[in-house]
Amino acid sequence: MRGRIPDQFIDDLLARVDIVDVIERRVPLKKAGREWTARCPFHDERSPSFYVSPVKQFFHCFGCGAHGSAIKFLMDYERLEFQDAVEELAQSVGLKVPYEGGAERPREDKTDLYTLLDAAAAFYEAELPKHAEAQAYCKRRGLDAETIKRFRIGWAPGGWDGVLKKLGTTPQRAKLLDEAGMVSSNERGKYDRFRERLMFPILDRRGRVIAFGGRILPSANPAREAHEAGAPAATSPKKGDGPKYLNSPETPLFHKGRELFALWQVKQANTKLDKLLVVEGYMDVIALHQAGLPIAVATLGTATTHDHAELLFRAAPDVYFCFDGDRAGRSAAWRALESVLPRLRDGRQAYFLFLPEGEDPDTLVRKEGKDGFEQRLKQAMPLSDYFFEELAHDVNMASLDGRARLAERARPLLARLPDGAFRDLMVQELSKRTGVHAAAVGGAAAAPAARAAPRAVAKRSLVRSVITLLLAQPKLAELAAPPYPFAALDKPGIGLLIELLEIARARPGLTTATLLEHFADRAEAPALHKLAVVEFPGDGDDALRTEFLGGLQRLAEESNQQRLLGIQDKIRREGLAALSAEEKAEYQALALKKKNQDLARQSRT
Ligand code: UTP
Ligand code: MN
Repeated sequence: MRGRIPDQFIDDLLARVDIVDVIERRVPLKKAGREWTARCPFHDERSPSFYVSPVKQFFHCFGCGAHGSAIKFLMDYERLEFQDAVEELAQSVGLKVPYEGGAERPREDKTDLYTLLDAAAAFYEAELPKHAEAQAYCKRRGLDAETIKRFRIGWAPGGWDGVLKKLGTTPQRAKLLDEAGMVSSNERGKYDRFRERLMFPILDRRGRVIAFGGRILPSANPAREAHEAGAPAATSPKKGDGPKYLNSPETPLFHKGRELFALWQVKQANTKLDKLLVVEGYMDVIALHQAGLPIAVATLGTATTHDHAELLFRAAPDVYFCFDGDRAGRSAAWRALESVLPRLRDGRQAYFLFLPEGEDPDTLVRKEGKDGFEQRLKQAMPLSDYFFEELAHDVNMASLDGRARLAERARPLLARLPDGAFRDLMVQELSKRTGVHAAAVGGAAAAPAARAAPRAVAKRSLVRSVITLLLAQPKLAELAAPPYPFAALDKPGIGLLIELLEIARARPGLTTATLLEHFADRAEAPALHKLAVVEFPGDGDDALRTEFLGGLQRLAEESNQQRLLGIQDKIRREGLAALSAEEKAEYQALALKKKNQDLARQSRT
């Protein structure tokens, strides 16, 4: 059980890492003045609106609004929990994360979910040797012991409550099992979701079990299987019914559109990956790994998503998609192509491999072996060939009309490619094939979008201006010290300003991002982030300093004024005699101060 990570550690950590390094290692950055820029990794775009500020230690996208510290970047980019992102950063600079307490940690639940799913996988693994039927099936499919171990293949026993009984020993754990997608229910109650199935754990990118796929065994009696396939949903679960493969539902840990089966095993088996192979099935992946091609992954019963595409290309520059040669395979391939187009930055390449009808990678690699399959990979179609071939398959390229049709179909698709050499080549290829001039097919890239407007300094209240300055340069806090002469000012944001000042004063050298990190869980966070990206173009330190001091001064004056008016109001309502001695003294002091301020202002102007 992990406790809370102390704020002080987060400060130290963020002081130790450089956000530019952290991001650069994942997204190539270009220098742009004092900042670094890139096309935003969090949304599709053609011209960069993603900025990283080394001074503020902060990233911000003017396109989609993504923003934050190095921790936030890792959370978003690697899809990590806060604590895991902190762990990863800490590791990169050789720090050990301290945890305190442990009782009220809000993220505990997920840790428990991981633990529970791991225990479920271990349970299934231990069941496998006890069931002759399951073992015989593994043998028939040619799975060797090493493979079974590497993929943690197991067996979900029959009955209703194997897992529930073994792991749902307390109401809290039973609830977690449910949350983890391990439980089904009907009007009679709850029961194991997976029964009598060969179990394939799905691991996340850190090797933790997050879900399962379970394959039904072929029925000894085909008539029974046919009957059950068409049977209506039963009110009580029957033995051995349901789809051939049953997957975990979407859970807090498992989003099938973002996970790839066996990516963990691939990463374990290869220190450097130059290609990845995407196939459709669990057994295909496993057979390929066993045959000596530990580069295969599978989407989990879904089409390839943009998230998948990004994940794939982050793992390897060349991605091979493998499909059945039939109609269904062809249409799945085209959908995969569409999902990778926006991710095809320069240096990334996609290939398509169509298998003979009636074969899948599992059967083929068993027949042809590793070498045979590698031979096929060598003959895979580059995306560009597949693209034009598929688009042209029903047009008459000999006719002007047909070529125009091709150009028309290709245009919107090519527009989805990121700017770069590959896109230019594709556009050239299109004009070569169709005779339509490159500019007309979209070769002249759209004019880069003008730098987004939000940088223009909007009109904001005095308190907000001061906060904005402080966020831009936390060291300005040194210029203020308690008692803050504006502390009593009744205005929105004063409390927040004082909080910011206190944090920044207590931690000299704090950056913008670190300061913001203190407010990560707070309702004010989005507003603070907005203020943090305001630029003060061309202003040197001195200008900011003067502006900041001027702002504080005006706040103090407003505070005086407010207090003065308050006392005057009391005098009006209750008479001078109602004032206490302190109030009288305060009144005199305030009135004097105000007079001096007014004089000072007159002499300034
Ligand atoms: P296939 O039916 O082609 O299975 O489904 P396969 O991998 O060749 O399986 P074997 O060889 O018969 O064991 C391909 C993939 O589609 C998903 C699974 O991910 C499966 O591996 N699928 C298929 C499901 O999710 N549910 C199903 O009912 C069937
Ligand atoms: Mn198969």
